[in-house]
Amino acid sequence: MLKNKNIYTVAIAGATGLTGRELLEVLEEREFPVGDLVLLASERSEGERLEFRGKKWTVKRLGKGSFPDVDLAFFVAGEERARDFTPSAVSSGAVVIDGSGAFSDDPKVPLIVPEINAAMTGNHTGIIACPSPGSTAVAMALQPIHAAATVRRAVITTFEPVSGAGKKAMDELAGQTVALLNFRDVEKKVFPHQIAFNCLPQIGEVLDNGSTRDEARMEREVAKVLGSAGLRISTTAVRVPVFRGYAISLNIETERPLPPNEARALLSQAHGVVVCAPVSAKRVAPWLKFAPLQPVVL
Ligand SMILES: NC(=O)c1ccc[n+]([C@@H]2O[C@H](COP(=O)([O-])OP(=O)(O)OC[C@H]3O[C@@H](n4cnc5c(N)ncnc54)[C@H](OP(=O)(O)O)[C@@H]3O)[C@@H](O)[C@H]2O)c1
Repeated sequence: MLKNKNIYTVAIAGATGLTGRELLEVLEEREFPVGDLVLLASERSEGERLEFRGKKWTVKRLGKGSFPDVDLAFFVAGEERARDFTPSAVSSGAVVIDGSGAFSDDPKVPLIVPEINAAMTGNHTGIIACPSPGSTAVAMALQPIHAAATVRRAVITTFEPVSGAGKKAMDELAGQTVALLNFRDVEKKVFPHQIAFNCLPQIGEVLDNGSTRDEARMEREVAKVLGSAGLRISTTAVRVPVFRGYAISLNIETERPLPPNEARALLSQAHGVVVCAPVSAKRVAPWLKFAPLQPVVL
């Protein structure tokens, strides 16, 4: 259990990566009561210095002895590091928040989207898991509809940015784009095919059932967050050549009929969801009757 303190010692495993750096910014922006900070990465980054609240903090190499006195340890250094090092963090007394997906289908590990199931954090035994960004967005959009009309089936298509594959993937998109615009050959290291000016309909390896790893993760995570193991989900995930930002389409079937206006009203009241009302009535097909809703930010 996280001790109730005025300030916390926080560790970030994967601090030099895209997610680790983002996490540092969020901790600073939200004025999280960080006392001491332990920044961890591979031997490649050992000694690098990262800024947090105007002070430089030295990055150390992640190891089993990295967690004495750590209260809260964020793991954003990949699944293998999560499996190898979270046991040491937990046995040192830290609460681990894992963003790698390593524990998302472990029944002992709560999978949390705070807007939906924050209360489940009370059941943790040292590790709390976060769903992927795509699963989080889908769960937040489905939850209010599921609560009101029970979602039976969801067909999901995701268009995922290269940021989801880490810093090297963003560099690869930038490098390939510059190369192509200068009539040079592209270099491929992160993605198996050219990503610049291209779409790759495969994220992660293909599993025995024909889904990709990313698609399977989405399906099990959304069902777990909604607490609805029987929910039938079919996902297609496509990597698109943009740096950041997801687009996701959701086609759902509910147990009881749910008119679009009611769905829109439910979504507009949901925590963290913004409903964008049509900008101009002229742009709306005449057969669509929208309720006079304004965009609502909650
Ligand atoms: N990108 C996203 O949108 C996103 C969102 C949520 C969660 N995540 C999860 O966060 C994790 C990192 O993703 P990312 O996109 O931030 O990747 P990234 O930019 O490639 O960063 C990877 C981080 O892991 C560290 N690392 C790699 N191998 C290591 C090792 N052997 N020992 C210690 N540290 C090691 C890297 O350290 P070096 O700099 O020293 O190599 C770096 O800090 C993944 O598990 C991913 O699923 C990603």
